[in-house]
Amino acid sequence: MHFSLLISLTLSVVSHIAARPITSSEIVANSAKGLRLLSLADGEEPVWKSEADLINLRKQGKHFFDVTEVYEAEQKLPAKAKAAAVTYPTTFHASTLTPILNTVSTSNMQTNLASLTAYNNRYYKSTTGAAASTFIRDKIASYISTYSRTDVTVSLYSHSFVQSSIIAKIPGKTTGAVTIIGAHMDSINLSSPSSGRAPGADDDGTGTVNLIEAFRVLLAADFRPATPVEFHWYAAEEVGLLGSQAIATAYKSAGVNVKAFMELDMSGYFKPGTKEVMALQADYIDTSLNTFLKALITQYSRIPWAMDIACAYACSDHASWYKAGFPSSFPYEAITGNDDPNVHSASDTTSVTGFSWAHSLEFAKIGVAFVYELAI
Ligand SMILES: *[C@@H]1O[C@H](CO)[C@@H](O)[C@H](O)[C@H]1NC(C)=O
Ligand SMILES: [Zn+2]
Repeated sequence: MHFSLLISLTLSVVSHIAARPITSSEIVANSAKGLRLLSLADGEEPVWKSEADLINLRKQGKHFFDVTEVYEAEQKLPAKAKAAAVTYPTTFHASTLTPILNTVSTSNMQTNLASLTAYNNRYYKSTTGAAASTFIRDKIASYISTYSRTDVTVSLYSHSFVQSSIIAKIPGKTTGAVTIIGAHMDSINLSSPSSGRAPGADDDGTGTVNLIEAFRVLLAADFRPATPVEFHWYAAEEVGLLGSQAIATAYKSAGVNVKAFMELDMSGYFKPGTKEVMALQADYIDTSLNTFLKALITQYSRIPWAMDIACAYACSDHASWYKAGFPSSFPYEAITGNDDPNVHSASDTTSVTGFSWAHSLEFAKIGVAFVYELAI
């Protein structure tokens, strides 16, 4: 995700622009020319940009939703659609959950991250980006098989580009609102997106392997929740949140009821010499869900939570769920400024000073706890 904060803080001026609607034929014609429709700020009409401009915006640290493929579906959704407020638990199942959290394995995460960082990059248009997607799907399928869970499913969610998102589903004993935890699988080298080296170890290899391990641990514990749980690995976060927007918009359109969403995007680094925290994003999140998350961290992690500064518009996949009207949250590796400065480059590896598996482990544990306490 991140590292620029300059922009968003100034932007929340509400403007109701009676702009000309962007038509289907305009979208078809401009897409065919390689243009992308970007939403750059809250309340502003999206604008057409070339792909080169899109990458340049990212180089400047700017974030945006690329709405090219969801604009029309979003126009059909009720404006400002907000789910009914959810009441989150205030008491926890520590005696049953703590032993499960103790089984979260750093070495499994290391092994899986080594596989993911071995791809030259995980860019959403590259063959290695597609291969990374298949790798995650196959790993999850292997756990489903190992733990003989014929009720659990995993599938690729395909997009207009070669990298697919992945959705794994653990059914509930009853139907009910679904609890979702997400991370993004893609990586990017901003100097040379399609062929440049982008190991993406922290961004977002860490969140990706935190989720893979959280999933394994829950299956190993024979977790059979009362309400459904989903694990999502998103394609194409780095170029405008394409995977998470496609899925969040589809869920909204289909009337899926989402209890809570949590993103894990970067969990392995905090600046040497600074206080180790779980930094809770302050914007584009649900405050009730954040209250739950704070209590969860206090209960189950050795690291305290701290509030981060605003992350900015469209800074990671939680924003796609927020935009679709669902409760979202996002614990991040460090207060912005103390986070990993090596992202989006060949230097995003686990060997940088400040990278800590012991730190990342806590986020995997909170991932398990989030799912368990909300869905049990
Ligand atoms: C991008 O990739 C190229 C080629 O792999 C590499 O030389 C360069 O250092 C990378 N850029 C950054 C910013 O890491
Ligand atoms: Zn990221």
